[in-house]
Amino acid sequence: MNLTTASPISVQKIEKSKIDQVDFDNLVFGSTFSDHMFECDYVNGAWQSPTIRPYGPLSIEPAAKVFHYGQAVFEGMKAYKDDNGNVFLFRPNQNMERINKSSKRLAIPEFPPELFFDALHKLLKLDSDWVKPGIGNTLYIRPFVIATQNGVSASPSDRYKFMIIMSPAQAYYTGDVKVVIAENYSRAADGGVGAAKAAGNYAAQFYPTNLAREAGYQQVIWTDSNEEKHLEEAGTMNVFFRINDTLLTAPTSERILDGVTRKSVIQLAKDAGIQIQERKITVKEIVEAANNGSLKEIFGTGTAAVISPVSAFSYQKKEYILPPQENGFAKKFKSDLMNIQYNLSEDKHGWRYQI
Ligand SMILES: Cc1ncc(COP(=O)(O)O)c(C=O)c1O
Repeated sequence: MNLTTASPISVQKIEKSKIDQVDFDNLVFGSTFSDHMFECDYVNGAWQSPTIRPYGPLSIEPAAKVFHYGQAVFEGMKAYKDDNGNVFLFRPNQNMERINKSSKRLAIPEFPPELFFDALHKLLKLDSDWVKPGIGNTLYIRPFVIATQNGVSASPSDRYKFMIIMSPAQAYYTGDVKVVIAENYSRAADGGVGAAKAAGNYAAQFYPTNLAREAGYQQVIWTDSNEEKHLEEAGTMNVFFRINDTLLTAPTSERILDGVTRKSVIQLAKDAGIQIQERKITVKEIVEAANNGSLKEIFGTGTAAVISPVSAFSYQKKEYILPPQENGFAKKFKSDLMNIQYNLSEDKHGWRYQI
């Protein structure tokens, strides 16, 4: 994109950066925000007045539809800095396309891709000091859209706000992740909004995830809502299973989020000649594989944690422990991905996007 052309975005810079007040060695994920944010309103049938201004509160009336009907979608992406100070995004087109796909499903008008990229460039140039170099340091980027029309009638809003906020993050160590295979609750159903990054999908998971936590597990692996026989995905991650040396992951569907990390891992597996099957995976076959020792690894994939190895799963109140893997697939894919993200390796698929 040629940024020397006139941009429609008006920029109001912060008077004094807050960066000196931030302890970058002790960040809590998603709780500190950079100096600037992007804001653009949909009014009278058009996205208008794109603005970058200092991060701060919004003034929204209590009747705004987002508060009543949850008409809201979001994205999650990251900026990475190499040792020469260059800032990169990872496959940002995928996020842009996905937020518009999510919007369409929630009856929200799509956002112009050029403006999305213009906003990202400008924000990241302004706040580039917030992207710290060093493997694991990132600036997490949260684009989102909310319905802002006032009125509690249950109908789509005629006004929206598209925003981008950014939050510095450190390497995200998930530690020992133990998961529960869902039996009583579902995340998504056929014909529903599971494939969209709709805010309500996440709210609906909090209660069953709390129950899992109380039982000593960190995440739920959701099963299909029809029969609860097939393994689908986790709260904010797609899931892979390694049986012997074959990798399995559920196919994307209208119930599953089409993860950027998922599709990148599938490509990296193909590049490395690892057998990969995108197919329905039954709980039964995974339990059998755990029992006969052929289940070697389970790991989640997602922007926040990159790759998160699972150490044990519980099903029908029985716990199955996975064998420890010093040099497993999870470790390989994590380092392959991070090497691309931090400009440390060849980028043969053109996934890096320099700001
Ligand atoms: C439900 C769900 N599944 C999977 C993912 C992983 O997607 P990605 O790799 O694009 O971050 C996410 C996170 O965005 C998610 O929220």
